[in-house]
Formats: sequence, C-alpha cells, structure tokens
Amino acid sequence: MFDQEGAPLAESGSDFRLPKTVTPRRYQLRLIPDLTQFTFAGEESVAIVVNSPTAEIVLNALELEIDRVSVERGKTSLNGRAELDPKKERVVLRFERALETGEWRLKVAFRGILNDKLHGFYRSQYQDAAGKTHTAATTQFESTDARRAFPCWDEPELKASYRVTLVVDQDLTAISNAHAESAKPSAIKGKKEVVFAETMVMSTYLVAFIVGEFEATAPVDAGTPLRVVHVPGKDNLTSFAKEIGAFSLKYFANYYGLPYPGDKVDLIAIPDFASGAMENLGAITFRETALLVDEKTASRAELERVADVVSHENAHMWFGDLVTMTWWNGIWLNEAFATFMEMLAVDKWKPHWRRWDSFSVSRAAAMAIDGLKSTRPIEFTVNSPEDARAMFDVLTYEKGASVLRMLEQYMGEEEFRKGIAAYLKKHEYANAETTDLWDALEESSRQPVRRMMDSWIFQPGFPILRAEAGSDGKSLKLSQRRFFLLPDGTENDQLWHVPLMIRAKTQRGIITKKIVLSERETTVALDGKFEWALLNEGGHGFYRVNYNPALLQSITHNLAALKPIERFGLVNDTWAATVAGLSPLPEFLKMARLLTGETDINAWRALLGAFNYLDMIVGDSDRPALAAEVRKIVGPAFAKLGWEPQAAEDELTRQLRGVLAATLGSYGEDAEVRAKAKQLYSLWDDDPSKADRDIAPALVSILAYSGDAGRYEEFKKKFKSARTPQEEQRYLFALANFRDKALLRRTADMSLDGEVRTQNAPYLMNSLLLNTSGRYEAWDYIRSHWEEMTRKYPDNALPRMCEGVVSLIDREDEVKKFFQEHRVRLGGKIIDQHLERLAIAVNFSRREGKHLASTLKAR
Ligand code: BES
Ligand code: ZN
Repeated sequence: MFDQEGAPLAESGSDFRLPKTVTPRRYQLRLIPDLTQFTFAGEESVAIVVNSPTAEIVLNALELEIDRVSVERGKTSLNGRAELDPKKERVVLRFERALETGEWRLKVAFRGILNDKLHGFYRSQYQDAAGKTHTAATTQFESTDARRAFPCWDEPELKASYRVTLVVDQDLTAISNAHAESAKPSAIKGKKEVVFAETMVMSTYLVAFIVGEFEATAPVDAGTPLRVVHVPGKDNLTSFAKEIGAFSLKYFANYYGLPYPGDKVDLIAIPDFASGAMENLGAITFRETALLVDEKTASRAELERVADVVSHENAHMWFGDLVTMTWWNGIWLNEAFATFMEMLAVDKWKPHWRRWDSFSVSRAAAMAIDGLKSTRPIEFTVNSPEDARAMFDVLTYEKGASVLRMLEQYMGEEEFRKGIAAYLKKHEYANAETTDLWDALEESSRQPVRRMMDSWIFQPGFPILRAEAGSDGKSLKLSQRRFFLLPDGTENDQLWHVPLMIRAKTQRGIITKKIVLSERETTVALDGKFEWALLNEGGHGFYRVNYNPALLQSITHNLAALKPIERFGLVNDTWAATVAGLSPLPEFLKMARLLTGETDINAWRALLGAFNYLDMIVGDSDRPALAAEVRKIVGPAFAKLGWEPQAAEDELTRQLRGVLAATLGSYGEDAEVRAKAKQLYSLWDDDPSKADRDIAPALVSILAYSGDAGRYEEFKKKFKSARTPQEEQRYLFALANFRDKALLRRTADMSLDGEVRTQNAPYLMNSLLLNTSGRYEAWDYIRSHWEEMTRKYPDNALPRMCEGVVSLIDREDEVKKFFQEHRVRLGGKIIDQHLERLAIAVNFSRREGKHLASTLKAR
C-alpha cells in the first residue's frame, strides 16, 4: 500500500497512532519548573480506563526522564518499568502482570528540560530596561509537543480533563487553562503551590502552563472575565486587545449559540513565540506583536493584525477546543474555520475596514500555491508529526477559509450559521470530522452541500472559467478547467461544483444570477442583450476567470460598475493568466494604465503585487525602465492623495497613501519622494506626536532602501530601543531592506549571533532572500549556515525562510540540488512548491524579462 506521497504506509501510519487498550479520563499534573537550571520536575496521577487486559501501557513521551511508575486500584498497587522509544516519541510502561479491565490510577514521576526551541515546555527570555535578563517558562503543545512536558496520550481524540498544580517562586505569576483555585505556601522553601480548577474534557494540545514575572490587566467582562497578560512595563499596550478580545468573544457566543466553554480568558504575550498565537483553552498565548500594540501610534495594518489574531484564537475556543478534529488530517477545518470567523468578527467590529475585501489578498496568496502542480488537496493524509506540521500552510488557512466563505455566500449567511451552531451542539466535548459538518449544514439548509464541498476539499487545485458572449448576444458560454501556473500540456479532467455568481447589464438593467456550474461547458441565458457581464460577482469564489477579449473590453470600459473586490479579482486574474502564459504582458500593462485613477487600497494591492513580481524577475539593465513605468502608474495616484492626510478621508485611504509612497520611494526610484521622505522622517523623529501612523512605516522602508551605513546604525539602534513590538519589528525588517551588500551581510549575521530572537530570524533571512540587491549572497549565507540554522530555529519557521528562494532565478539548478540533499526536515510538499514557484519565475523571466524594457518603451 502506498499513500499519496508514494511512501509505504505500513511503517508510517500505525507507528504514529497509540493503541487504544488504555485510555485517559482525567490528569492531575504537578509541575515544578526551575527557571535558573532550565529544567522541570513533574508528577502525574491519571485516572485511566483499561479497555482490555494488558501488562503494558503505551503513551507518548519525548525528551523526558521517567523516575517512577505505578498503577493502583483499590488496595492493589503495582510498580512498573518505563522504556522510552525516542524514535516513536513514546514510552512503554511494563508491569509484572496484566491489569484487568476497568478503572485504574496511573502515577508517573518524571523530569524534563525547559528547552529553547519554542515548543513543549520551554523557556522564554527578555531583558528589562536595565539590561537584566529575565526568564519565563511557557508551553506550546500543538501539534504534538505535550509529550515533551508530561507523558500523555498525545492525540486529539483522547480528550480528558486536567487539574494542574504549578509549584513556583513566591513572587512569580502562574497561569493555566482554568482559574486558580488556591495558592498556598509550598513545603519547598520560597515556593508556592498554585492549584487550578479542573478543565473541561479537551485534547492534550490545548493544555498550557505559563510561569514568570507576568502582570495582568484588570479583567473586563466578555461574558467571562478576560485579561491581557504581559511582562512588566507594557500595560500601556493592552487596551486594543482587550477591546477586540471582549467584542469577539461575545460575538462568537452569540454566533455559535453556546456560552464560552471555559471559566476565564487570559490573552498572554510571550516574548519568544514560534507562531503568531495559540488557542490554549482560557490561556491563549501570543507573540508580542500580535497582542500588544499602541493604539495611538500603530499603523492601521498593525492594528488589524492584532484584531485578526485575537479574534481568530477566540473563535477556536468553540471551534477547535470544544469540538476538535479527530485526527490531524482534519486540521484544515479547525484553522480554516477560525480564519473565516476571524474575518466575520473583525468585519462586524469595524465595518469600515472592509475586512472581506482585504481577505482577497489572502485568497490570492492561496491561489498562488494552489495553481501549482505540487499543490495538495485541503484535506490530506497525515501520519507523522512532520506531516502534521506541514499542514499549517495557506491551503489549510486561506484556501480553507475561502471555500467556507464561498459556501456561506452561496447558502445564505443565516442558514450557514444555523448549521454551524447545530454542529457544535451535537459534537460538544467530543471530536468530529469534515463529513459531520456537511451533515449539519445539509440538515439546516436542505441543500447538497457535501457534493459541492467534496470537489473543493478533496481535489487539489481550482478551476479557471473561460467566458465569452454567445452569438445571440444574450447568453454567456462558459467552460471550466484546472488552472496551472506552469501548464505542461497534459490533459486534466478535473471538474468542480462551482457556485457561480454573475452580474450583468442587460437591456432591462443590472441583473444578478446564481448558478452551479458542474459540467465542463455550460451556456447561461441572461434574459436579453447585455452590455457587459461579470463573473464571480462579489468576489467570493475560489476560481479565476478568463474572459475573451471582447468580453474583457466590455468590463474594462465599465470599471466604475465594479466593486473594489471585483476590480481586485479582475487585476489578479489577469495577472495570473499573464504569469501562466495565457495572456501577453502588454495586455496586463494596458489594464494597469487604465487603473491609474484607482482609489481602493485592495485593488492597488493586486496591481502592486504584479509590479513586485516584475521587480523580482527583471534584469538589472531593465530596472530603470521598470522604475519609470512604476512612476507612471503609481505617481499620479499618489500625487492625487498628497503627503498630507485629509480630515475627511477614511482609514483605508490613509493606509493607501503609505503603500503608494513606499512603492515610489523603493523600486520606483522616485527621487522627489525619497527627498520628502527624508525630510518628514527627521521632522517626526524630533516630534513623534506629529508623525502619521500610516506613513511612518513607509518612511522607514524608503529610508532603508536608499540608506547608507549611517542610516543602518541609526535603525539598528532604533530596533534595540523600540517602545512597542511593532516599532521593533519595523526597524528590524528595515535592516533587510538596505541595498549595500556589506550592510546586508551584517543583518544576516544578526540572525545567528543572538541579536535577533529565533522567532524572527528565519523571517529576516526570508526578507534577505527577497532583496533584489542581496539575494544571492543571502542564499550563499543560508547554504553555508544551514546546519546551524536548522539546529537553532524553531521547526515551524524553516519552510517560511525558504519561501524566499523563489527569487533566485539565476541559480535554479543549484537551489534544486541543495534541496534534494536537505529535504528531510521540511516535510509535506513545501519544498516541491518552493521549487515549482522558482521554475515559474525562471520561465516568466525568460519569456518576458528579456524584452521587458522594449515592451515598456513600446507603449
Ligand atoms: N493553532 C494555531 C497556532 C499553531 C499552528 C500552533 C501550528 C502550532 C502549530 C493558531 O490558532 C493560529 O492559527 N495562529 C496563526 C495566527 C492566525 C491569526 C492565523 C499563526 O500563528 O500564524
Ligand atoms: Zn488557528
């Protein structure tokens, strides 16, 4: 038997699933972290059920020493021996005789390390203003790292309740999933024992313990008490998170029709944190940039990031924590759904942010991967921990959320909500599979949801719809086929059930139509002759549209009739067709010139995405021609906005000003913009209260792009003395934006010498790989430090760092060879995807790059 990857199943599948002979009911855990030795000691007493007689208990454990093992029942007590199997990440507990079926109590004493890899039970450090280092201990268990903190049945289906005791120094704060019931002096001198209430039944990956010098805000009422927790001195950065935290939690209780399942919520900012945030029930952990923010000075984009992440994790309290996927192949449902709900809540909170419009950018990012031959279906086989890790990608999150949004819009928002509420009620405190969700939605809507969704969930890729007017002028001829960015000429017979929304202007006025396209070809009657017709009305569909020239022209002549999200789609689809070789570059540039009057930030992002790509593939000699084109297209739009924010303009327009300025001042090579940026920056440096929150990030990136060694020193200092996590991040990433190779080399060194947290270092290297002036040097640096990087960086970040290899168009063969030799650590299809994206860039640059300058000048 072989799985999709062609690897033999037998040795992978069963090796990673525990036998269900013995299962846990409740864990009592007592942990004593040592924040100076970076170790911990623990004891657990687990109420278990022996389901069939056995003399051995098999559970997960990794990087733990086991000191004592026993089982008890009534007056019987048996000692056991522990045999660790690090390869399988398990421990086998053997007893001298078989345990009879029924309830037992298992007791294990163990020891472990507070590692620095940002997983399991790990240490997180920070320095105070005086330069003194402080250490905290915290946990990150998803997907399979609870086993590094205590021996457990570390599979999502084996839900149990947890009663946690933390033994910590008197003056430290201790937090776990439930509220603290008591804190008493410990028998161990100088320590206290904090006992937490028992949790609901839940999966091991949601358990959390946090110990350190943390401070908490006063609780706000979110239907349950909600606090923001942080290291000392950051209380001034908590108001925004509290507000969206309380809003979204209440919004979800209402949407799901179920009260919050825990007894409190702490939103905790951890100085070292591998991902963005983690939905531990009641003890949600975040990296600082995703939680702590200064409402007065942060840019709109930075505020939106915090709102997104907080709302996403809150959504998980029900979807994920209360109802959990049975196994990791179902993780898409968890993450896609939380991503979908995150948008809903943020959109309700601040409608003028038009969050669903900016979600188009995420949808497009998913399509950029899903247009590859090396993509995968949303739901995908998972055996090993490495397979599970590889699932956390844009296909799970962004494609998953997109197809849920597409379904919701097709079904109707309230019908969809009712189905979700029924699903949660039915499976609360238990596990569910994708098919259970379709059952619930079919029941609530009486529509064939499963048939439609199976085509999106179990098939890789997505369709492109070809559209042309019927010869009668009253109908549309449509056909679907799979979209490939790098077509190889082979036939593909995949079909989707495409929920298709059409808007057209006919003799009778504007009409809309909703159909399901499930055949290869269809003709749709539009009740009369039409002037123009638009597919993917509302922009929620996960497909692309390719209009024939006449139809396309009818649309581009009526751009004002399109919503911004539809203009985004038009530009993005046309660009994707250009990269795929379905449409010539001059056609795209023609469209770009039609859009110089565009005022919507998201439509601009579609355009600028294309120009960023051209900047990546263009040869050095053609760079001035590209810069001139950028100025021609972006210049007038920026001139219209001016540098000064207008009193009446909305937040998105203010943000657009910064985005356009950053483009002109970087590869737009606009001398005037650079001069003004310099002037404004020094003005604002003297008086930060004058600074515009949405232009400030642009100034930093422009000044770095055109900056010298003096500027580099200045920005490095700013990075080290930043007042907010966002400012710190802004200046750090600016250090990857300089053009001088020697300076960029210094930035690369910072990623390994301890100056940059390992949570950021891989992303910094990724930025260096994408720097058109230093990319090949960054690549050489990564190759020669690969072993050190894989050892130091958190596991989840290596694939992210490698995303940047897409820019290495002059070194394709070398990059391929390197990953053939080093693919093991990265898992899934990620490396194949990076390599295919590189091949596409190489192909595109050969096709269009060599005459880009003449193409541009010709027009
Ligand atoms: N459950 C994830 C975090 C996670 C993923 C931990 C994989 C361990 C392995 C969390 O809910 C999440 O999705 N976080 C996102 C942020 C979110 C707003 C998309 C992240 O960390 O990027
Ligand atoms: Zn999530």
